Amino acid sequence: MIKIAPSILSADFTKLGSDIESVSTADYLHFDVMDGVFVHNLSFGFPVLNSVRLFTDMILDVHLMIQTPSRFITEFAKAGGDIITFHVESEMPDSIKEVIKNIHDHGKRAGLSIKPETPADVLFPYIELLDLVLVMTVEPGYGGQEFQYDMLSKISDLRKIIDRCGVACELEVDGGINFETAKLCIEAGADVLVAGSDMFSAADRAVHIAELRCP
Ligand code: DX5
Ligand code: ZN
Repeated sequence: MIKIAPSILSADFTKLGSDIESVSTADYLHFDVMDGVFVHNLSFGFPVLNSVRLFTDMILDVHLMIQTPSRFITEFAKAGGDIITFHVESEMPDSIKEVIKNIHDHGKRAGLSIKPETPADVLFPYIELLDLVLVMTVEPGYGGQEFQYDMLSKISDLRKIIDRCGVACELEVDGGINFETAKLCIEAGADVLVAGSDMFSAADRAVHIAELRCP
C-alpha cells in the first residue's frame, strides 16, 4: 500500500500537538530541517524534533536540507529521527557512503534525496545501501509550490532501477502533492508521498490520507 507522510512544515505551530494527532493515521511524519544555507529558508531542528519524539509514536521521517549534514547525524538520531534523509548535493561525493553508514550505525534508516535539477543516475551507486530515496518535485525550501511534472520520468527511472536491484529501498516523492499529482506519482512508481500544504488545509485529514493512498 502507498504510504503517506504529512509534512509538519505546513502545520500550525501554535497547536502542533493537535495537528500531529490529526494525521496520526498516516505512515510517517515528515520533518523538514532547513539551515538557510543549503536552501534559502530556516525551519526547525533538534529541540522541536525532541518534543515531537516525546509526543508521538509515529515514524519520524527527517528530511535534512542542510549543508554538510555529516556534522549533525548523531544529534538527529539522538533527537528521535527514525528515517534520516540527506541531500546528495549537500556532501562531497567521497563522503556520501560514510554518512549513510553513520546513519545505519545509529540504528536508523538512511535516505538520500535529489533536487529537481539533479539527474537520477547520481543516486545509482548508492541504491543498494539505502532504505529510501527521496525525489524532490519542487525546489526544496518552501511548502505550497507547484508540482514539477517533468520529474515524473525521474520517478519512473528510479522505480526501474530499484526493482532491477531487487532492494527494499522505498521511493518517496516530496513537493506539490495533491489528489491529482498523487495519482501520477503512484503510476510512475512512488511508494511514499509527502504532503504538506494540501494535507494541512484538508477539512478532514484522516479522510484525506485515505484518499491520497488510493487517488
Ligand atoms: C519543501 C519540503 C516539503 C514541503 C512540501 O522543501 O521538503 O516537505 O513541506 O510541501 P507541499 O506539500 O506544500 O509542497
Ligand atoms: Zn521534505
